Amino acid sequence: MAVSYRHQRDPDDEPVSPDSASTFEDILRLRFSRRQTLRTLGAGAAILGLVSSHRGWAREMSAHVASSLRFAEVPRGRDERLHVPAGYQAQVLLRWGEPLFPHAPVFDPGRQSVQSQQLQFGYNNDFVAYLPLPRGATASDHGLLTVNHEYTLGSLMFPNAPHRISSSAPQVAVEIMAHGMSIVELKRSAGGWRVIIDSGFNRRITPVTQMRIAGPAAGHRRMKTRYSPDGVTTWGTYANCSGGVTPWGTVLTAEENIQFYFAGNINGLPEAENYRRFGLPGKLLFIPWGAHYQRWNLDVNPNEPLHAGWIVEVDPFDPRSVPLKRTALGRCKHEGCSVHINTDNRIVCYMGDDQEYEYIYRFVSRDRYKANDRSANLDLLDDGVLSVAEFDADGKVTWHRLVFGHGPLTKRNGFHSQADVVIDVRKAADLVGATRMDRPESVNVNPVTGSVFVVLTANQLRIRAEVDAANPRAQNMFGHIIELLPPNGDHSAPQFTWELFLLAGDPEHPDHGARYHDDVSAHGWLINPDNCTFDRDGRLWIASDGANQHGFADGVWATDVTGPGRALTRHFLRAPVGAEVCGPFFTPDNTTFFCAIQHPGEGSTFTHPATRWPDFQPDYPPRPAVVAVTKNGGGIVGS
Ligand code: FEO
Ligand code: CA
Ligand code: CA
Ligand code: CA
Repeated sequence: MAVSYRHQRDPDDEPVSPDSASTFEDILRLRFSRRQTLRTLGAGAAILGLVSSHRGWAREMSAHVASSLRFAEVPRGRDERLHVPAGYQAQVLLRWGEPLFPHAPVFDPGRQSVQSQQLQFGYNNDFVAYLPLPRGATASDHGLLTVNHEYTLGSLMFPNAPHRISSSAPQVAVEIMAHGMSIVELKRSAGGWRVIIDSGFNRRITPVTQMRIAGPAAGHRRMKTRYSPDGVTTWGTYANCSGGVTPWGTVLTAEENIQFYFAGNINGLPEAENYRRFGLPGKLLFIPWGAHYQRWNLDVNPNEPLHAGWIVEVDPFDPRSVPLKRTALGRCKHEGCSVHINTDNRIVCYMGDDQEYEYIYRFVSRDRYKANDRSANLDLLDDGVLSVAEFDADGKVTWHRLVFGHGPLTKRNGFHSQADVVIDVRKAADLVGATRMDRPESVNVNPVTGSVFVVLTANQLRIRAEVDAANPRAQNMFGHIIELLPPNGDHSAPQFTWELFLLAGDPEHPDHGARYHDDVSAHGWLINPDNCTFDRDGRLWIASDGANQHGFADGVWATDVTGPGRALTRHFLRAPVGAEVCGPFFTPDNTTFFCAIQHPGEGSTFTHPATRWPDFQPDYPPRPAVVAVTKNGGGIVGS
């Protein structure tokens, strides 16, 4: 059966017309005011942060203010190429279709097959993590790179694909195998980084790789399907967005927009309420695999969606290991999962659920991390307390526990066990009064200060009556970043404090209501922050996803988070047209900055691509790829 769908675009994007009349000064005053108060109390300029209205109160103080980041900013703009600052180079390291094994066929866009794709680098690289080899070492010239492959764009993958694609089952089969993860061994020498093609570590994880359900939902009645009679064995992962790395050397990958893959009718299904809350099945931005394959057809296999939407833990150091779906961390449209060792050695995970009005979650492990006993750590993510954030206008964050039997999470509301709580985690979070956020993407812990940065990418649906302190703009086109402060560094505490870090948008455009450091340049402001990472000095590196809808390219911006350069974002990297940037990740010594260029040329077609990056070969489509950015002659990136 051939199925036609409209041309493909990023599943994250849903443009809505802008609100040109932001009136939110009263709310802002509350949550930016803390640092102004510090000033009046006589605290020095160094701790003020100087987040302010552009050209506002801090300007007089900013003449001598400077960022600690020394690179020359990349100009704002958009073209077919990738740009880094003068004095830097960007090596294209791994591109879609690249062979990962000695027996893998070379990439040939005219001859794609399931057999070749499962031995080659997948499509639309997202999360990137570098883990030094050997495990536990700090090598910055030898390690494993794990990369997620979030989704596919058939109109850019296959020759002669028309703008409206008619997708056959064999083509969808190739696209299925282009999802999942790649794990590769890398070495750096004077000539740059290279992939070790005959490494025993190299692995493709796909939507059909055998996996196991772990934690409270494992084996539960609702998890039993036609392809998983025991509710424990499961098959593969897809829609993998960002992720995280554990201190014991495993990688977490986040299953996000799983709704697009399913076909069929949910009316009358026992899980219909759950699926409706998930927006499932999706709006046909993709070819639903269920149109061709029964596993994803709800009419045939109605409980399959409950096997997706989890955080999956993968041990890249053991190529034969069975990945585990950690259900204790809840089921939603997971953006990522960052991991922190708490002061008492319990493990804390932070997670955003990336959809308009969804929530920010925290998991605190029951047991403690043991630095010298890896096997004792391997199942830490199966037992612990999941909670969800409520933000008050007075600067307090309350973490509400999502525990069966606690508060409203009882039989009266349809919860019969912790399995129900984690499977229906959005419903549980609704009931405990969590704050509905503007699409939570990355939530990362600053390794130097211990504060937690929450990146909110946008929410164009929010109306003025729904504005609150933590989501202060109606029809939020541009996104914002919030900083959470755990008391005395205790990430398990029931309450934190919070403040706004920046409001994205063009600071010269009053209708945007943007807020940065006063000195942010014409190239230095950003929109739609998405993934982020910290360098070893605690500076924040932010990748964006959405600028193409506003006429310039997405990229990477970096900023100090403390001191006189706080919220002074500076433009470090510019992606080719159509692409977003994902997975920023540093080597331990900060001399290499890895990032993923996802969906270059998005919105165009194989025949008439908006760019042919990175090959620029006639007849070659653009190829999503991971790049390694280094300083010419070596040195700390950003210094
Ligand atoms: Fe796949 Fe939330 O971006
Ligand atoms: Ca995206
Ligand atoms: Ca995004
Ligand atoms: Ca993302």
